[in-house]
Amino acid sequence: MNFNITLLPGDGIGPEVVAEAVRVLDFIASKYKHTFEYKERLMGGCSIDKHGSSLTDETLADCQSADAVLLGAVGGPKWDDPTAKDRPERGLLALRKGLGVFANLRPVKVHPALMEWSPLKPEKLQGVDILVVRELTGGLYFGFPKGRDVKDGRERAVDTLEYYDYEVRRVMELAFKLARGRKKKVTSVDKANVLESSRLWRQIAIKVGAENPDVELEHTLVDTASMRLITGPAWMDVVVTENMFGDILTDEASVLAGSMGMLPSASLGASGVGLYEPIHGSAPDIAGKGIANPIGTILSTAMMLRHSFKLEAEAAAIENAVDQTITDGARTADIGGKLSTKQMADEIIKRL
Ligand code: IPM
Ligand code: MG
Repeated sequence: MNFNITLLPGDGIGPEVVAEAVRVLDFIASKYKHTFEYKERLMGGCSIDKHGSSLTDETLADCQSADAVLLGAVGGPKWDDPTAKDRPERGLLALRKGLGVFANLRPVKVHPALMEWSPLKPEKLQGVDILVVRELTGGLYFGFPKGRDVKDGRERAVDTLEYYDYEVRRVMELAFKLARGRKKKVTSVDKANVLESSRLWRQIAIKVGAENPDVELEHTLVDTASMRLITGPAWMDVVVTENMFGDILTDEASVLAGSMGMLPSASLGASGVGLYEPIHGSAPDIAGKGIANPIGTILSTAMMLRHSFKLEAEAAAIENAVDQTITDGARTADIGGKLSTKQMADEIIKRL
């Protein structure tokens, strides 16, 4: 089959990890007789430098017309000026919004051979298999009003946490659907004891829960959830939460897996174009050295094959090859080894 993929390598280590993920995709294409056609575009800081905008209309259009988008990472100290008009992260948010990808799936699994790399005790990590479903196009990241002004002679900054009922419902329904193919348990994370938006969130969770009686629903306040992720992560199955809580909780959850470099993500919406990216950032400290862990991005391509292209066997082949590679002891620096980004990808391709 034929698929069009827009590549947005981005900044920092983004281009290094995306290049290796593309080699994995090319291997899959030749082995399983598919054709993947790529368009590579600038997004993030590199796009600000070249085009004066973190996401141009043309690049957004090239993403909207693709079957899927593979993104590396955006950002870096060069573009960190808090007074700058545009920022690399703005491009990423505009892309998520422009693709309408309202649900960000972040699976967190712990490979037994990497348990020693987590600061948690191995017995806490046994059986951890969590899928965080993070709402991605609403909440504090996008609400209005937003900005700076001077009020009563004082400088003021405002962000707004806003949710419509339909935004909560669609991500909640997806969480329940995904839970049905897993351990049939949904943990809805909110701050309903304080925030009005969280009370709406919880009410809708209860309604959707009642419509899906075969799936167990529990509610947890976000502060408690952050603690339970560390004290008892194995009891969690699908965790569904609003945009910013999900951002914070998934960085925390990545610690369970031993390294942020291991974790993939898929962002899905109604339009059908999926956005796939590792959860890690641009890692400016190691950019250009060729030592970044490509696994998060490679596993993101597996999610692309599964969710956007419906190529389940090919997706599973990549996941199994990554598992085996780790079992066999291949390690990049973040998980205590010396392999380069390219060598790690070679090891995975060898096992495909
Ligand atoms: C993530 C990142 C982004 C986010 C940044 C780069 C805007 O932290 O994907 O988790 O906050 O969503
Ligand atoms: Mg984040």
